[in-house]
Amino acid sequence: MKFDQKKSENPWLKIPAFEYEGHMSSPGVLQLQMLSELLKETVEKYNPKSICVPGCAGGNGFEHLADKNPDRIVGIDINPEYISLSETRYKKVLPSLELICSELESINFASGSFDLIHAALIFEYIEAEETLKKFYAWLLPGGILSVLLQLPSPSPVSKTEFESVKILSGFIKLVDPDTFKRRAENLGLELISEKIIEMRNGKKFFSAAFKK
Ligand SMILES: C[S@@+](CC[C@H](N)C(=O)[O-])C[C@H]1O[C@@H](n2cnc3c(N)ncnc32)[C@H](O)[C@@H]1O
Repeated sequence: MKFDQKKSENPWLKIPAFEYEGHMSSPGVLQLQMLSELLKETVEKYNPKSICVPGCAGGNGFEHLADKNPDRIVGIDINPEYISLSETRYKKVLPSLELICSELESINFASGSFDLIHAALIFEYIEAEETLKKFYAWLLPGGILSVLLQLPSPSPVSKTEFESVKILSGFIKLVDPDTFKRRAENLGLELISEKIIEMRNGKKFFSAAFKK
Protein backbone atom coordinates (compact mmCIF):
# COMPACT_ATOMS: atom_id res chain seq x y z
CA MET A 1 0.00 0.00 0.00
CA LYS A 2 1.34 3.43 -0.94
CA PHE A 3 0.22 6.55 0.91
CA ASP A 4 0.57 10.01 -0.56
CA GLN A 5 0.86 12.62 2.17
CA LYS A 6 -0.65 15.45 0.11
CA LYS A 7 -3.20 17.46 2.15
CA SER A 8 -6.58 17.98 0.62
CA GLU A 9 -9.91 19.56 1.42
CA ASN A 10 -11.69 16.89 -0.57
CA PRO A 11 -15.08 16.13 1.09
CA TRP A 12 -14.60 12.41 0.53
CA LEU A 13 -12.07 12.52 3.38
CA LYS A 14 -14.91 13.42 5.73
CA ILE A 15 -17.10 10.41 4.93
CA PRO A 16 -16.40 7.33 7.10
CA ALA A 17 -16.40 4.04 5.21
CA PHE A 18 -19.36 2.62 7.15
CA GLU A 19 -21.42 5.72 6.30
CA TYR A 20 -20.46 5.60 2.60
CA GLU A 21 -21.23 1.90 2.29
CA GLY A 22 -24.31 2.14 4.51
CA HIS A 23 -25.66 4.92 2.33
CA MET A 24 -24.81 3.25 -0.97
CA SER A 25 -26.28 -0.11 0.03
CA SER A 26 -29.38 1.17 1.83
CA PRO A 27 -32.73 -0.14 0.53
CA GLY A 28 -33.64 3.15 -1.16
CA VAL A 29 -30.28 3.45 -2.95
CA LEU A 30 -28.83 -0.03 -3.75
CA GLN A 31 -26.00 1.48 -5.76
CA LEU A 32 -23.23 -0.53 -4.08
CA GLN A 33 -24.79 -3.73 -5.40
CA MET A 34 -25.28 -2.29 -8.91
CA LEU A 35 -21.65 -1.07 -9.00
CA SER A 36 -20.34 -4.45 -7.89
CA GLU A 37 -22.37 -6.20 -10.63
CA LEU A 38 -21.06 -3.72 -13.20
CA LEU A 39 -17.43 -4.52 -12.36
CA LYS A 40 -18.26 -8.24 -12.55
CA GLU A 41 -19.92 -7.90 -15.96
CA THR A 42 -17.06 -5.77 -17.27
CA VAL A 43 -14.26 -8.17 -16.30
CA GLU A 44 -16.26 -11.13 -17.59
CA LYS A 45 -16.81 -9.40 -20.91
CA TYR A 46 -13.27 -8.10 -21.53
CA ASN A 47 -11.15 -10.55 -19.55
CA PRO A 48 -8.40 -7.98 -18.80
CA LYS A 49 -4.98 -8.97 -17.47
CA SER A 50 -4.21 -5.53 -16.06
CA ILE A 51 -6.92 -3.46 -14.38
CA CYS A 52 -7.01 0.01 -12.86
CA VAL A 53 -9.92 1.08 -10.64
CA PRO A 54 -9.73 4.81 -9.91
CA GLY A 55 -11.97 5.77 -6.98
CA CYS A 56 -12.11 2.14 -5.78
CA ALA A 57 -13.63 3.04 -2.35
CA GLY A 58 -13.55 -0.09 -0.13
CA GLY A 59 -12.88 -2.39 -3.08
CA ASN A 60 -16.53 -2.81 -4.00
CA GLY A 61 -16.81 -5.72 -6.46
CA PHE A 62 -13.17 -6.80 -6.15
CA GLU A 63 -14.38 -10.26 -5.07
CA HIS A 64 -15.30 -10.85 -8.72
CA LEU A 65 -11.67 -10.41 -9.77
CA ALA A 66 -10.25 -13.20 -7.62
CA ASP A 67 -10.96 -16.12 -9.98
CA LYS A 68 -9.83 -14.10 -13.03
CA ASN A 69 -6.25 -14.21 -11.81
CA PRO A 70 -5.16 -10.86 -13.35
CA ASP A 71 -1.45 -9.98 -13.49
CA ARG A 72 -2.06 -6.54 -12.04
CA ILE A 73 -4.92 -4.76 -10.27
CA VAL A 74 -4.44 -1.18 -9.13
CA GLY A 75 -7.00 0.47 -6.85
CA ILE A 76 -6.68 4.19 -6.22
CA ASP A 77 -8.62 6.23 -3.69
CA ILE A 78 -8.13 9.49 -1.85
CA ASN A 79 -9.58 8.19 1.43
CA PRO A 80 -7.08 6.23 3.57
CA GLU A 81 -9.81 4.40 5.47
CA TYR A 82 -11.31 3.08 2.21
CA ILE A 83 -7.88 1.95 1.02
CA SER A 84 -7.14 0.18 4.31
CA LEU A 85 -10.49 -1.56 4.08
CA SER A 86 -9.73 -2.69 0.52
CA GLU A 87 -6.43 -4.08 1.72
CA THR A 88 -7.98 -5.95 4.66
CA ARG A 89 -10.72 -7.37 2.50
CA TYR A 90 -8.85 -8.34 -0.65
CA LYS A 91 -5.08 -8.42 -0.34
CA LYS A 92 -5.03 -12.14 0.53
CA VAL A 93 -7.37 -13.26 -2.24
CA LEU A 94 -5.86 -10.88 -4.81
CA PRO A 95 -2.07 -11.13 -4.50
CA SER A 96 -1.56 -8.84 -7.52
CA LEU A 97 -3.56 -6.02 -5.90
CA GLU A 98 -1.72 -2.68 -5.57
CA LEU A 99 -3.49 -0.04 -3.51
CA ILE A 100 -2.63 3.62 -3.77
CA CYS A 101 -4.02 6.21 -1.40
CA SER A 102 -3.77 9.49 -3.24
CA GLU A 103 -5.62 12.12 -5.16
CA LEU A 104 -6.02 10.83 -8.69
CA GLU A 105 -4.73 14.18 -9.90
CA SER A 106 -1.26 13.40 -8.46
CA ILE A 107 -1.00 9.89 -9.92
CA ASN A 108 0.59 8.90 -13.17
CA PHE A 109 1.37 5.65 -14.89
CA ALA A 110 3.42 4.94 -17.99
CA SER A 111 1.51 5.05 -21.27
CA GLY A 112 -0.02 1.70 -22.10
CA SER A 113 -0.16 0.33 -18.54
CA PHE A 114 -3.64 -1.22 -18.47
CA ASP A 115 -6.04 -3.43 -20.46
CA LEU A 116 -9.00 -2.05 -18.50
CA ILE A 117 -9.67 1.16 -16.61
CA HIS A 118 -12.94 0.87 -14.72
CA ALA A 119 -14.06 4.40 -13.82
CA ALA A 120 -17.43 4.10 -12.09
CA LEU A 121 -18.83 7.25 -10.47
CA ILE A 122 -15.49 9.04 -10.28
CA PHE A 123 -15.69 11.59 -13.11
CA GLU A 124 -18.29 13.47 -11.02
CA TYR A 125 -15.62 14.35 -8.45
CA ILE A 126 -12.58 15.24 -10.55
CA GLU A 127 -11.66 17.43 -13.50
CA ALA A 128 -13.30 15.23 -16.13
CA GLU A 129 -11.61 16.38 -19.34
CA GLU A 130 -8.01 16.20 -18.07
CA THR A 131 -8.65 12.88 -16.34
CA LEU A 132 -10.09 11.38 -19.51
CA LYS A 133 -6.87 12.31 -21.36
CA LYS A 134 -4.85 10.73 -18.58
CA PHE A 135 -6.86 7.49 -18.70
CA TYR A 136 -6.53 7.40 -22.47
CA ALA A 137 -2.73 7.51 -22.11
CA TRP A 138 -2.72 4.78 -19.44
CA LEU A 139 -4.59 2.34 -21.70
CA LEU A 140 -2.80 -0.18 -23.87
CA PRO A 141 -3.75 -0.13 -27.56
CA GLY A 142 -7.01 -2.11 -27.71
CA GLY A 143 -7.59 -1.42 -24.01
CA ILE A 144 -11.03 -0.63 -22.58
CA LEU A 145 -12.22 2.37 -20.65
CA SER A 146 -15.38 1.44 -18.79
CA VAL A 147 -17.32 4.41 -17.45
CA LEU A 148 -20.36 4.96 -15.26
CA LEU A 149 -21.78 8.48 -15.16
CA GLN A 150 -24.62 9.64 -12.97
CA LEU A 151 -27.49 11.26 -14.87
CA PRO A 152 -29.43 14.31 -13.58
CA SER A 153 -32.13 13.74 -10.95
CA PRO A 154 -34.00 15.96 -8.49
CA SER A 155 -31.62 15.01 -5.70
CA PRO A 156 -28.18 13.88 -6.94
CA VAL A 157 -27.25 12.58 -3.47
CA SER A 158 -30.08 10.31 -2.31
CA LYS A 159 -31.52 10.97 1.13
CA THR A 160 -30.65 8.32 3.73
CA GLU A 161 -29.97 8.25 7.46
CA PHE A 162 -26.23 8.69 6.77
CA GLU A 163 -25.49 12.34 7.43
CA SER A 164 -21.89 12.70 6.27
CA VAL A 165 -22.62 11.87 2.61
CA LYS A 166 -24.79 15.00 2.35
CA ILE A 167 -21.57 17.01 2.02
CA LEU A 168 -21.24 15.64 -1.51
CA SER A 169 -24.28 17.50 -2.81
CA GLY A 170 -22.27 20.75 -2.94
CA PHE A 171 -19.35 19.04 -4.66
CA ILE A 172 -20.73 16.53 -7.16
CA LYS A 173 -20.54 17.76 -10.75
CA LEU A 174 -22.47 15.64 -13.22
CA VAL A 175 -20.84 14.98 -16.57
CA ASP A 176 -23.00 15.08 -19.69
CA PRO A 177 -22.68 11.72 -21.52
CA ASP A 178 -22.77 13.34 -24.99
CA THR A 179 -19.96 15.71 -24.06
CA PHE A 180 -18.05 12.78 -22.61
CA LYS A 181 -18.57 10.69 -25.75
CA ARG A 182 -17.43 13.55 -27.98
CA ARG A 183 -14.27 14.09 -25.95
CA ALA A 184 -13.55 10.37 -25.92
CA GLU A 185 -14.02 10.14 -29.68
CA ASN A 186 -11.75 13.16 -30.23
CA LEU A 187 -9.02 11.38 -28.30
CA GLY A 188 -9.38 8.24 -30.42
CA LEU A 189 -11.58 6.15 -28.17
CA GLU A 190 -14.24 4.12 -29.96
CA LEU A 191 -17.60 3.72 -28.23
CA ILE A 192 -18.28 -0.02 -28.22
CA SER A 193 -21.23 -0.28 -25.84
CA GLU A 194 -23.61 1.99 -23.98
CA LYS A 195 -26.70 1.57 -21.85
CA ILE A 196 -28.81 3.39 -19.29
CA ILE A 197 -29.15 1.78 -15.88
CA GLU A 198 -32.30 2.79 -14.02
CA MET A 199 -32.58 2.16 -10.30
CA ARG A 200 -35.80 1.37 -8.43
CA ASN A 201 -35.76 4.84 -6.88
CA GLY A 202 -35.77 6.38 -10.37
CA LYS A 203 -32.10 7.40 -10.42
CA LYS A 204 -30.41 6.80 -13.76
CA PHE A 205 -26.84 6.14 -14.83
CA PHE A 206 -25.03 6.07 -18.16
CA SER A 207 -22.77 3.06 -18.57
CA ALA A 208 -20.40 2.82 -21.52
CA ALA A 209 -17.26 1.10 -22.74
CA PHE A 210 -14.72 2.68 -25.08
CA LYS A 211 -11.89 0.95 -26.92
CA LYS A 212 -8.48 2.55 -27.57
C1 LIG B 1 -18.93 7.01 -5.73
S1 LIG B 1 -17.44 6.40 -5.13
C2 LIG B 1 -16.91 5.25 -6.38
C3 LIG B 1 -17.58 3.94 -6.35
C4 LIG B 1 -16.74 2.79 -6.82
N1 LIG B 1 -16.02 3.10 -8.05
C5 LIG B 1 -17.57 1.55 -7.03
O1 LIG B 1 -17.59 1.03 -8.16
O2 LIG B 1 -18.20 1.09 -6.08
C6 LIG B 1 -16.25 7.67 -5.49
C7 LIG B 1 -14.88 7.32 -4.92
O3 LIG B 1 -13.93 8.19 -5.48
C8 LIG B 1 -13.03 8.60 -4.48
N2 LIG B 1 -12.49 9.90 -4.92
C9 LIG B 1 -13.17 11.07 -5.04
N3 LIG B 1 -12.35 12.02 -5.50
C10 LIG B 1 -11.12 11.47 -5.66
C11 LIG B 1 -9.86 11.95 -6.11
N4 LIG B 1 -9.71 13.21 -6.47
N5 LIG B 1 -8.82 11.09 -6.16
C12 LIG B 1 -8.98 9.78 -5.78
N6 LIG B 1 -10.15 9.27 -5.35
C13 LIG B 1 -11.22 10.10 -5.28
C14 LIG B 1 -13.87 8.68 -3.22
O4 LIG B 1 -13.09 8.61 -2.05
C15 LIG B 1 -14.80 7.50 -3.40
O5 LIG B 1 -14.28 6.34 -2.82
